[in-house]
Amino acid sequence: MAGQIPQRFIDDLLARVDVVEVVGERVQLKKAGRNYSGLCPFHQEKTPSFTVSADKQFYHCFGCGAHGNALRFLMEYDKLRFPEAVEQLASRLGLEVPREGADDPRAQARERKRQEGVNLLELAASFYRERLRMPEGQSAREYLARRGLSEEVQRDFGIGYAPNDWEALKRHLSAREIVEAVQVEYGLLVQREDSGRTYDRFRDRVMFPIRDVRGRTIAFGGRVLGDAKPKYLNSPETPVFHKGRELYGLFEARQANPRLERVIIVEGYMDVVALAQYGIRYAVATLGTSTSEEHLSRLFRMVNEVVFCFDGDKAGRQAASRALETVLPQMIDGREARFLFLPEGEDPDTLVRREGREAFEDRITCASPLSEFLFDQAARGRDLARVEERERFASQVLKAASRLPRGMLQTVLLGELARRTGVDQSRFEALLARDEQTVPAEFSEEPATASAGPVTVRRAPSAREASLGLVARVLQLLVHEPTLVERLPAEDDWCPEGDGDAGLCRELIRLLRAGRYRSPQVVLAHFQGSAQGERLALLAQREMLIPREARAQELEGLVDYLVRHRKRQSPQEEFETLLARERGGERLPMEARRRLQELLVELKR
Ligand code: GTP
Ligand code: MN
Repeated sequence: MAGQIPQRFIDDLLARVDVVEVVGERVQLKKAGRNYSGLCPFHQEKTPSFTVSADKQFYHCFGCGAHGNALRFLMEYDKLRFPEAVEQLASRLGLEVPREGADDPRAQARERKRQEGVNLLELAASFYRERLRMPEGQSAREYLARRGLSEEVQRDFGIGYAPNDWEALKRHLSAREIVEAVQVEYGLLVQREDSGRTYDRFRDRVMFPIRDVRGRTIAFGGRVLGDAKPKYLNSPETPVFHKGRELYGLFEARQANPRLERVIIVEGYMDVVALAQYGIRYAVATLGTSTSEEHLSRLFRMVNEVVFCFDGDKAGRQAASRALETVLPQMIDGREARFLFLPEGEDPDTLVRREGREAFEDRITCASPLSEFLFDQAARGRDLARVEERERFASQVLKAASRLPRGMLQTVLLGELARRTGVDQSRFEALLARDEQTVPAEFSEEPATASAGPVTVRRAPSAREASLGLVARVLQLLVHEPTLVERLPAEDDWCPEGDGDAGLCRELIRLLRAGRYRSPQVVLAHFQGSAQGERLALLAQREMLIPREARAQELEGLVDYLVRHRKRQSPQEEFETLLARERGGERLPMEARRRLQELLVELKR
């Protein structure tokens, strides 16, 4: 099982995150001299006694004595256990949390092995880099120059050259007391089955080191200088290298821009470096495999937008279909996936050279959004004037929609499907809901308190992202950002009565409108101790994946949807719900009370 997290790593982590940033995402802070201050999230207060020090990297509350560093804050505020808090901070930096088994000798041995492998591979990488600069590297230097790669890009990617010699690396490493068996284990030497003799795996090739997210070399890809086969040779699977997990260029992309927002996934090493040469420093390549779930979840932890790049031929379209299948379950709100098809016979390398950066980036900008690709694909080769073909078209889209996490994208997709088929959206929603009942129990992670919105319980990619009802998402937005209340329509009759969160939602809106509450903590404090308080706290703790600047729009979109799908109530039903609200202790707004009077008269008649 998971071992201890090395203290070194924790120290390193705390040195690299900023407590002000971590706290500031959850508590409204104001700069006050050298420190920041705000209302303490850990106790109820009206004047700020909570301070965060950027210099000392801790927070302190003079009111309640709460005190600690970024990790402590996450544990207290997000109610995380220590290793979870470490994971969360690490993932902000794109780091993986290493484990050492203090009590497990096997885990210890694994960690030693990893260290040994990494050191060995670093040695090999510098060996290759040095050789590229030596006289024997001349043909490789010429090759790289012919392919238009500057020395700067060669350096950024650590490109090297494996000499045309059966034992050059072996001699180099053996002289440094690395036993041959280890060199074989990490894929640098090949051992012949018959004689047991060993020789360098990579010879006379341009060498691309493959680095993990922390920049440690974990494997190599080598390209021949001419037309020999195989064109590319990769390291085999080793204790530190698992092909289906790693992405070439990810470390370099993050080096070039730590605040990466978008990544484009291409096929080859050369595509990545050629794009970098032209200033497009956010390309990554899978290593001869198709894009895996693991690739994507890793990427989406760092960026919100992923652009897949494919050849324009049939194989490219097939690869795109596979990518679509893989990405669907990960499309929670706030994420974006797009599909870029290149002209036939081109790859990103040839295209960016021919067209230049701007034209290539224009292509990225115009790449099909997931929904568009999905519809195009489903419509391909079908005559939608025919009923049966339309049925198959709709089934295909619906099947994809059912794999999406519940959210805006799914809702909008069904709306678009309705528009294109002329079938009412509610029919599709009913079909989805029916299929969902067959989802095995282990996938239904919906908390019992969540409401049934227009689309019912969905399979979500992880417990953290378990789906929320539409009203719950309105609540979540409001509790994270109370000032958004200004974006809501004056009347709150869009809030569906049948929804378990409706009462709380109206109550919250009334409070926020009254203008006394502007920050999440104070809102939470108001409700503290009640079931409603627990519900809000739960929503507040959920990570908001929608970027700040898109939240107002998201809120308006949600309400818009609810308005359009508001159930028309009969006068009797309307009367009863209003009455129930009043009896439930709610102070009805003037409008509603007047309406109640009207209804009373109308129903008497
Ligand atoms: P250049 O010809 O140098 O422009 O390379 P490319 O990136 O255009 O290569 P290609 O499109 O042929 O292949 C894309 C990716 O597939 C490469 O980056 C490799 O990861 C992989 N690949 C290509 N050829 C081979 C091969 O012969 N063996 C292995 N193992 N992988 C290969
Ligand atoms: Mn190419």
